[in-house]
Amino acid sequence: DESVVRRDRFSGGPARSFLSSLEADRRIFAADLAVDRAHVVMLAEQGAIDDETAGAILTALDAIEVDGHDSLPDGEDVHEAIETAVIDRVGEDGGKMHTARSRNDEVATCLRYRLREDVLSAIETTLALRESLLAVAEEHDETIMPGYTHLQPAQPTTVAHWALSYEGAVRRDTARLLEAYDRVNESPLGGAAFAGTTFEIDRERTAELLGFDGVVENSMDAASSRDFLLETVQALSTHATTLSGLAEDVIVFANRGFVSLSDDYSSTSSIMPQKKNPDTLELVRAVAGDAAGTVQGLTTTLKGLPRAYNRDLQRATTHAWETVDAVTEASGVTAGAVATAEWNEETLAAEAGEGFSTATGVADLLAANGLPFRTAHEMVAVAAENGGDYDALEAAAETVLGEPLESYVDPVAVTDALDPAESVASRDSQGGPAPEAVADQLEAVREAVEND
Ligand code: ARG
Repeated sequence: DESVVRRDRFSGGPARSFLSSLEADRRIFAADLAVDRAHVVMLAEQGAIDDETAGAILTALDAIEVDGHDSLPDGEDVHEAIETAVIDRVGEDGGKMHTARSRNDEVATCLRYRLREDVLSAIETTLALRESLLAVAEEHDETIMPGYTHLQPAQPTTVAHWALSYEGAVRRDTARLLEAYDRVNESPLGGAAFAGTTFEIDRERTAELLGFDGVVENSMDAASSRDFLLETVQALSTHATTLSGLAEDVIVFANRGFVSLSDDYSSTSSIMPQKKNPDTLELVRAVAGDAAGTVQGLTTTLKGLPRAYNRDLQRATTHAWETVDAVTEASGVTAGAVATAEWNEETLAAEAGEGFSTATGVADLLAANGLPFRTAHEMVAVAAENGGDYDALEAAAETVLGEPLESYVDPVAVTDALDPAESVASRDSQGGPAPEAVADQLEAVREAVEND
């Protein structure tokens, strides 16, 4: 039995487990069977192997699938183990399965085949999150809240405006993943070791059987390139970065009593009975760090790798699986946490004007009434230092401008500008927080979510 001879020759040494990816390859077990089937069908159609052998190999592959990954014989990786299992069942002719291919094009095809499915799952979670954010926005288009820059009260906004700000970012994350998907979805099969083959193969046919959009044309590129992994991991890392900001916001909002997470997405303390902690979102925040780490790790593995295949590539793969799993899970959890969180409208309204956050609106009002904006800014800044209310504005008008406030602006308009809800309603520029401006955004967002 040649496979035994080969295993004896190459597989018994102290580096055995270091070399083997068999356990990690569990993830591509089903993919490898699919790739084997497509390849064998194509070989038979091309007359490279006879139909009877092809039939026997396909039957063996079905049995191997039923037995599962755990029943595979030992092997350096899943490709070798499945081939050995086929030969064990079919006899020596089972070795015809590996005609006109190499593990190099085989593994590249398996990775792309499996990753396709994973990227689609990740995209699903981005859509679920966007739907959650959309639902929050629809419900809270008039729920005013403080808006921050530098984590300091800046200008009042609404919960809807906040939620849609993240929908916009996640929409781009979806787009990046869809783009990565298109480039993942090309078949390297038939590239062989890197240098093509003498057999009359049909690469378009295996690509079609495996549901790929086309082939990676150049056989050396097909077998060696892993930029599809890098691009996917980068897109996922970018999405995780978006999630981390959203998570941090909600953690801070929960701290202020603005929002309350559902119990399903909270943890308690083993010692402090009163605690309800936003642990899920803290983990989401941390996943962004892990994902950035895998981008770094994968980039470093790929950097400077020569053509064509090098075994370093085996370790490149695991970065992708880790990131796909962690980010997809984080994205799904965030979608659930956002969908089930309760916004405390009273607290939000009470705090919306905190820290004289309507100051910009007052300055805008003065500017709209003819005062240069910079002068208005200086005057309102003086009022801010003296309490930031109507009285302070009146006093500042006298000291900074030398005239009573009423000579510049209608007092009723000033009172309105100082009111957080009025302040929000007045900022109706395109993309702004005023409920009418948000209504336009909602319409576009609904359409975008629908289309993706
Ligand atoms: N398990 C290997 C990988 O993931 C398969 C390719 C092995 N090829 C080779 N020429 N040693 O890359």
